[in-house]
Amino acid sequence: MPSAPGSTAGRSSSLRTAIAGAGMIGRVHLDAVRRSGAPVVGISASTPARAKEAAAALGVERAFDSSEAMVTSDDVDVVHICTPNDAHARLAVLALRAGKHVVCEKPLTTSADAAGTLAALAADSGRVAAVPFVYRYHPMAAEARARVLDGRAGDVRLLHGHYLQDWLSLPGDTNWRVDAVTGGPSRAFADIGSHWCDLVEWVTGHRIADLTAVTQTVPRHGADGPPPVRAAGPEAQRQAAGAGRPATEDAVQLLFRTDQGATGALTVSQISPGRKNRLWFEVDGARTSLAFDQENPESLFVGSRGENTTPLREPALLSPAAARLSTVPGGHPMGYLDCFAAFVRDVHAAIRGDGDGDGGRPAALPTFDDAARMVRLTETVLDSAAQRSWKEVS
Ligand SMILES: NC(=O)c1ccc[n+]([C@@H]2O[C@H](COP(=O)([O-])OP(=O)(O)OC[C@H]3O[C@@H](n4cnc5c(N)ncnc54)[C@H](O)[C@@H]3O)[C@@H](O)[C@H]2O)c1
Repeated sequence: MPSAPGSTAGRSSSLRTAIAGAGMIGRVHLDAVRRSGAPVVGISASTPARAKEAAAALGVERAFDSSEAMVTSDDVDVVHICTPNDAHARLAVLALRAGKHVVCEKPLTTSADAAGTLAALAADSGRVAAVPFVYRYHPMAAEARARVLDGRAGDVRLLHGHYLQDWLSLPGDTNWRVDAVTGGPSRAFADIGSHWCDLVEWVTGHRIADLTAVTQTVPRHGADGPPPVRAAGPEAQRQAAGAGRPATEDAVQLLFRTDQGATGALTVSQISPGRKNRLWFEVDGARTSLAFDQENPESLFVGSRGENTTPLREPALLSPAAARLSTVPGGHPMGYLDCFAAFVRDVHAAIRGDGDGDGGRPAALPTFDDAARMVRLTETVLDSAAQRSWKEVS
């Protein structure tokens, strides 16, 4: 159970944290945990040797030979699962059963059934179980949410936008995510479309109720052998072994309706040259429209029939929910790493039971339930595209 408010058991400095997976996002988690003041006491990787290398490079006390041993270790209170997708569910189940608080990367699992089972296990465990849909933690995204909730935007009519990347746009580009076994049956949507949908549902309070989707998969490698690989060592072997396995979608285009009568359109792509991490959304309300661009997160576009404005992130002028996330004065740019730090602060607040929401639960914290919903949405997208029809999101 979460520690009682005021108890020292949940202080960040006493939450011994371990990180499974030392790739790109494992290092981001490490940075965020250290910024919270919690000790990172262990790290694991795909092999014992790589765990040792990572521990030495990152200054982590202990390299574990296996993630399984680490997530069940008596010396660990909070586990962060930052491995490729196919290991998430297995490690999260082990960690919850061992009584750990768990932060698990998205997608929570590679099937909706497994996600539902895992979310139920997390609820029964009484432990904190969170998933870093961290774009919720951009102050100006929080400002957009505040302006929808307090009525300044008016009734929400349209939701639209895109999440575009280019790192898989060349035929030779590859990664474990391309392989349907390691990455799961969806790639672009599970990897980044889920972030957009989580963010826009969070900002508006609407839920995507039904949708129709088309997907596109481009030829990724020629007939001249296995795809070129980006990583070395065991990871490279694993990627090469993926050659010839079913490919996953590079792009998705989606039309949807929400439970509150708004309509929406979304383009998700990992093959859009020049677009690095272009998460952009617009919410068109009856009074104002609000647009947020993750690559330029220090302002918000507020459109109206009168004058359009672009308020800047200046804590004194923001709504309380946005000011809370604004840890440096305006003019000192904040970004992705700050979102992760704020997310981890909320994980620790949830453990202590002194978050800013009902019952001490942090209002913004994305849970396993939220992540399981995104896995269901992902399956609905793939079903709709395969069957060329509108589908309800169950
Ligand atoms: N929330 C976000 O914004 C965000 C951003 C990027 C990635 N992610 C998610 O994080 C996860 C990892 O992505 P990444 O970009 O860091 O990938 P990556 O390839 O950079 O790193 C994954 C690491 O996990 C290691 N690994 C493989 N099997 C392992 C195991 N059993 N135990 C421990 N380590 C193991 C690999 O060797 C590799 O170093 C994915 O699920 C991805 O969807 C989330």
